[in-house]
Amino acid sequence: LSEQLFMQMADVMVSDGWKDAGYEYVCIDDCWMSMTRDDQDRLQPDPERFPSGIRKLADYVHSKGLKLGIYADVGNKTCAGYPGSYGYYDLDAQTFADWGVDLLKFDGCNYGTLDLLAEGYRNMSLALNETGRSIVYSCEWPLYMRPMRKPNYTEIKHYCNHWRNFGDIYDAWSSIRSTLDWTALHQDTIVDVAGPGGWNDPDMLVIGNFGLSWDQQLTQMALWAIMAAPLLMSNDLRHISPQAKWLLQNKDVIAINQDPLGKQGYRLSKESNFELWERPLSGGAYAVAVLNRQEIGGPRPFSFSLSFLGNGLACNPACVIQQILPASEDWGLHNWVSFLSVEVNPTGTVLLKVVVIEERPGKDLC
Ligand SMILES: *[C@@H]1O[C@H](CO)[C@@H](O)[C@H](O)[C@H]1NC(C)=O
Ligand SMILES: *[C@@H]1O[C@H](CO)[C@@H](O)[C@H](O)[C@H]1NC(C)=O
Ligand SMILES: *[C@@H]1O[C@H](CO)[C@@H](O)[C@H](O)[C@H]1NC(C)=O
Ligand SMILES: *[C@@H]1O[C@H](CO)[C@@H](O)[C@H](O)[C@H]1NC(C)=O
Repeated sequence: LSEQLFMQMADVMVSDGWKDAGYEYVCIDDCWMSMTRDDQDRLQPDPERFPSGIRKLADYVHSKGLKLGIYADVGNKTCAGYPGSYGYYDLDAQTFADWGVDLLKFDGCNYGTLDLLAEGYRNMSLALNETGRSIVYSCEWPLYMRPMRKPNYTEIKHYCNHWRNFGDIYDAWSSIRSTLDWTALHQDTIVDVAGPGGWNDPDMLVIGNFGLSWDQQLTQMALWAIMAAPLLMSNDLRHISPQAKWLLQNKDVIAINQDPLGKQGYRLSKESNFELWERPLSGGAYAVAVLNRQEIGGPRPFSFSLSFLGNGLACNPACVIQQILPASEDWGLHNWVSFLSVEVNPTGTVLLKVVVIEERPGKDLC
C-alpha cells in the first residue's frame, strides 16, 4: 500500500480505457494513516506509505481527470486499529476537504453504542456538508446496526449516498452467492429506498482476480447491474486479463447499471435452482437476469413466459430482446405470449434487455 500504487492505478485507469468506460474514483481503504494524529489533532498519512501527503496524491489524481476516495471510521479506531474519527468529525471532514478528497468511505468498527453509531454517521454527514466541498459519503451504518436494531433506510438515505448492508465481499463464489441471497431475502425493505442520491452497496466487484470462474464473474457483473450497485472494483488493473477487462468495461452492462430511472432490480422467482431477476429501466424497458444456481453439471435450459416480466407490461404487446451477457446478441421481436428458453451455465447468468414496442398495424410479430 503506497502512494506509488495509487498513482500507477490512476495512470492505468486513463491509459487502458477505464476512465472512458465511466470509472471515476480511485479509492484508498483502511491502513493509509499514521498511528497518531499530528500536533493539531489532524489525521496524517503513514509517512512511509504516503511520503508526499494526501493533498499531493489528490492533485495527481485530479490532474488525470479522476477523483480520490479515502477511508475513516465512526468509532475510536478503524477496523485495522488506526485512529478513528470519534470526537473529531468536524476536524476530519475539514482535513479531507482541504486535501481535495472526493469520497469518504466511513466504516463502523468500534462504534461504541448504537446511539453513538447513528449520531456519528449523522454528524459526519453534516460535517462533510459544512465544508462546502462535494464529497460522496459511503456509509456502513445499516451493516453495523442491523444485528440489534432495524435500520431506518429513509433516514440513512437522507444522510448517506450509498450504504453497505451486508458483510465484506471476498474473491469466492460463496461470497457472491451469499450477498445475492441476503439481498433477495431483504428486497422488500431495501429495494424501494434506492434511487438517485442514495444506493444500496453490495460491496466491490472482485472480477479480474483469482477466485471466480468466468461464469461467476459474468454473474457478479450482471447482478450488480440489476442491483443498481455502485461499481467499485477491487483488483489490480496493471495485471488483468483481457476477458475481465472486456466484462468490466462492457458499455451495455454499465448502461443498465447507470440507467437514469434509478430503480433497483429484484428477484422475481427462484425455482428448480434458477433465479429470475428483473430491473425496470427508463423508457419502459427491463433488464432481466437468469441465474443458474446449480453448481455442478452442464448448461441447463430455463423456460419462462414473457408475460411474467414487468407485471405483464415488459413485453406487452411486443418487445425486442437483446442478449447482453455472456455476449451481445440480437434475439429479435417477441410478443407477450411468447415463451423464452435460455441456456445457462452452472453458476452463470444470462443478462437480457427487453424493450417494449407498440404494436403497429400490418406488422407481423414472431
Ligand atoms: C471512545 O473512547 C472514549 C474514552 O474511552 C469513550 O468515552 C467513548 O465513548 C468512545 N467512543 C466510542 C464511539 O466508542
Ligand atoms: C453530534 O453533534 C451534536 C451537535 O453538535 C453533539 O451534541 C453530539 O455530541 C455529537 N455526537 C457525536 C457522537 O459526536
Ligand atoms: C449541503 O446541504 C444542503 C442542504 O441539503 C445542500 O443544498 C448543499 O448542496 C449541500 N452542500 C454540499 C457541499 O454538499
Ligand atoms: C425514519 O426516519 C424518518 C426521517 O428521519 C422519520 O420521519 C421516520 O419517522 C422514521 N421511521 C421510523 C419507523 O422510525
